[in-house]
Amino acid sequence: MKFDFNEKTAIVTGAASGIGAAIAHDLARFGAKVVLADMDEAGMSKVADEIGATGGIALTQTTDTSVAADVEGLVAFAVAQTGALHLLVNNAGIGGPANLVGEYPLDGWQPVIDVNLTGVFHGLRYGIPEMVKAGGGAIVNMASILGSVGFATAGAYVAAKHGVVGLTKVAAMEYAKAGVRVNAIGPGFIATPLLEKNLDEAALEGIAASHPVGRLGETTEVSALTCFLLSDQASFITGSYHLVDGGYTAQ
Ligand code: NAI
Repeated sequence: MKFDFNEKTAIVTGAASGIGAAIAHDLARFGAKVVLADMDEAGMSKVADEIGATGGIALTQTTDTSVAADVEGLVAFAVAQTGALHLLVNNAGIGGPANLVGEYPLDGWQPVIDVNLTGVFHGLRYGIPEMVKAGGGAIVNMASILGSVGFATAGAYVAAKHGVVGLTKVAAMEYAKAGVRVNAIGPGFIATPLLEKNLDEAALEGIAASHPVGRLGETTEVSALTCFLLSDQASFITGSYHLVDGGYTAQ
């Protein structure tokens, strides 16, 4: 697949690792100026250097997406450096504790909601007005298959991701006439540090087998869908939730 993001500025949150890094690479490869946003400065610099080495343009801005002022600063930085904001991927996310709802650690709930749901709100809150000023834009919010189905022991994560799908629909309705498209993606389980940090080999094998295709997804498979939804080829697609899940939710 080929896309044209020349003359576009894109922000990707959570761009130091996994899915966000893959998306940043692809957007830069297709011509976008990419602003990487993450708390992991070393990881972000590595991705920016890799993009630069292949002729792409990548800037970095240290950002905690759960902090409104950080995201406000991130959007201001992108606009100051490049002139406008056209594309935004609200991708930063964390896993959180694994516990039954009736035993869920009280101090584990809020951080997951703060990053996985409020962080996306912050991106929309500060990104959309700049896109309206630019005459339009496109946003992808990284939900999960767990934005539409449950997963035992992941109450906070599932609640946050369902919230992302709902917020996506509202923002899409509100800004369709202003030319800003907003979609959500629901990846199945993807081979990234998020998964590898939290699960041992046996658990990973079990999860891979729970997808009809019999394997975990690749970051590039999520990035391909993201690039399509951000591109002009997807001009009639807004307010919807798109699965890239190896058949997981078809069962
Ligand atoms: P990852 O752990 O490889 O990368 C996440 C990145 O987000 C890291 O670089 C981390 O430093 C950054 N980050 C975390 N909290 C942040 C914050 N408050 N502010 C800024 N950056 C922050 O994870 P992965 O797998 O690439 O996940 C990316 C997104 O995809 C997340 O929203 C995740 O929930 C979602 N997702 C992942 C799936 C998977 O199986 N890996 C499946 C479905 C959705």
